[in-house]
Amino acid sequence: MSEQKNIGNIKVIICKDKQEAAQEGAKIFAKEIKTKPGVVLGLATGGTPVDMYKELIRMHKEGGLDFSHALSFNLDEYVGLLGSHPQSYRYFMDDNLFNHINIDKTKTHVPKGISQDIPASCQEYEKSIKEKGGVDLQLLGIGSNGHIAFNEPGSPSDSRTREIDLTEKTIKDNARFFENEAEVPRKAVTMGIATILEAKKIVLLATGNNKAEVVAKAIKSPATIDIPASFLQNHPDCVFVVDEEAANGL
Ligand code: F6R
Repeated sequence: MSEQKNIGNIKVIICKDKQEAAQEGAKIFAKEIKTKPGVVLGLATGGTPVDMYKELIRMHKEGGLDFSHALSFNLDEYVGLLGSHPQSYRYFMDDNLFNHINIDKTKTHVPKGISQDIPASCQEYEKSIKEKGGVDLQLLGIGSNGHIAFNEPGSPSDSRTREIDLTEKTIKDNARFFENEAEVPRKAVTMGIATILEAKKIVLLATGNNKAEVVAKAIKSPATIDIPASFLQNHPDCVFVVDEEAANGL
């Protein structure tokens, strides 16, 4: 059984374990998908959402959850990786979600990691989100340094989709997905904090002991550029779905 509480402006749902957190997150997404045809989903990659995506696939296969009218925008992509690269976030999304549900892949968007003109393609990404009416429901993870998407510490609250240098901490954290640390791209394209805060509803999923300290800081410290996730305190409809381990500092 999950427990709910409000801390300041943020609603927190504390689940027994990461499996229950994945189910809770999937429930929120399924409800939005069912009630809003043409829903615009904001999606994340990384280790945390994998179980939630598995649950959405199960809901599609066993319960007929219909993605045929949904659109999606992903948060970020590594600079220099083609979508065919197994570590690219386009590949991740196809492999962990899109290939297993009935979403129209032409309506799924991931920032371009390779472009002749990255600033222009970032502007196009922003424009495309606006043209589709904005993100209805945004999924986020949280980096151990407090980043959301790849908005590393120091990212201002008015930042937009742009190229960013990854910090040493993020490169080290993400080395587990690559053969070795040297292979981790040093740059990424990321939605900005302002882009994320424009989503109508936000769900941040965090599990495990290693996220406890940063989750507590994001929710309880005053909003600060040093912990970009703390800017979520300024959003009117943001829920953190965490397991007991990640809730340890609350
Ligand atoms: C991924 C993303 C990142 C991750 C964060 C946590 O699209 O935007 O902010 O959510 O780095 O990653 P994991 O889930 O691997 O701990």
